[in-house]
Amino acid sequence: MSSTITVRVPAKVNVQLAVGGRRADGFHGLASVFFAVGLYDEVTVTPSDRLTVSVAGADAAAVPADRSNLAARAAVLLGARYGITPEVHLHIDKGIPVAGGMAGGSADAAAALVGCDALWGTGAHPAALAEIAAELGSDVPFSLLGGVALGEGRGELLTPVPTGGTFHWVFAVADGGLSTPAVYGECDRLRDLDGGSADTDLPVPTADPALLEALRTGDATALGAALSNDLQPAALSLRPALAATLRAGADAGAIGTLVSGSGPTCAFLTKDAPSAAALAATLTTSGTCRTAHPAAGPVPGATVLY
Ligand code: C5P
Repeated sequence: MSSTITVRVPAKVNVQLAVGGRRADGFHGLASVFFAVGLYDEVTVTPSDRLTVSVAGADAAAVPADRSNLAARAAVLLGARYGITPEVHLHIDKGIPVAGGMAGGSADAAAALVGCDALWGTGAHPAALAEIAAELGSDVPFSLLGGVALGEGRGELLTPVPTGGTFHWVFAVADGGLSTPAVYGECDRLRDLDGGSADTDLPVPTADPALLEALRTGDATALGAALSNDLQPAALSLRPALAATLRAGADAGAIGTLVSGSGPTCAFLTKDAPSAAALAATLTTSGTCRTAHPAAGPVPGATVLY
């Protein structure tokens, strides 16, 4: 058993996010095709006399450095399950945009589960970790799993999706985040305005066969054409400036554009790694985002580095 464990964990983009009706528990039924990309947080777990958290990296000040952090709640929940007092220091090094629609907080929780499990030698079965992950949040099970997976239910019921190659993305980071509950609420409001009801009138969403086929064959052009996000109108309604970001990426040659999850990060698919590097440079100087990062995927979920 090592005295310090460092876990690397990726961001996600939803290549399809089909949002169904609001359920009795307040969550929405989803068909969410999660795709893990090579933008990472690292969480280092060290024994301590009590549970503490520190955060470094871009926007670290916007992340709670106390027991309210989802990573700290992950350590508490895992410890409670195995009868261990969670006396650890969690250091979170952020590379994933904060409140950006890329599951950064969920990633840190998944990394804390994996890191504490390794440090404490709990040897939790993957299914047990996945169950604890689902208690922490809808996206946490996928942050453990990585790759590409269809998430049903509220996003926590995962089925791996086969993929036929590497896809090359660019992520344009906005100034400031968006609240996920606020974006779902705006989605409901827009649907009610349209004369429907966000509770009842919506069929259970399903994965798009054309999207699954594009993933299976590694066809970036087909994937670009099939990208979809039902939360995008709500994110654009709350942050109208994102329309200019999406347009700038499309004008610069992206083969697919969408808001990542609940936003405000915008995702652009390109045909290869050089195109992604060039598009990231163009977007960074476009004045429509704070910065833009190339990232390839799919990549594995939360992984112990050392
Ligand atoms: O599960 P998680 O804590 O990440 O969800 C954050 C919020 O996002 C929920 O409180 C809810 O408002 C919204 N949400 C939803 N339907 C989902 C997932 C999340 O309405 N399937």
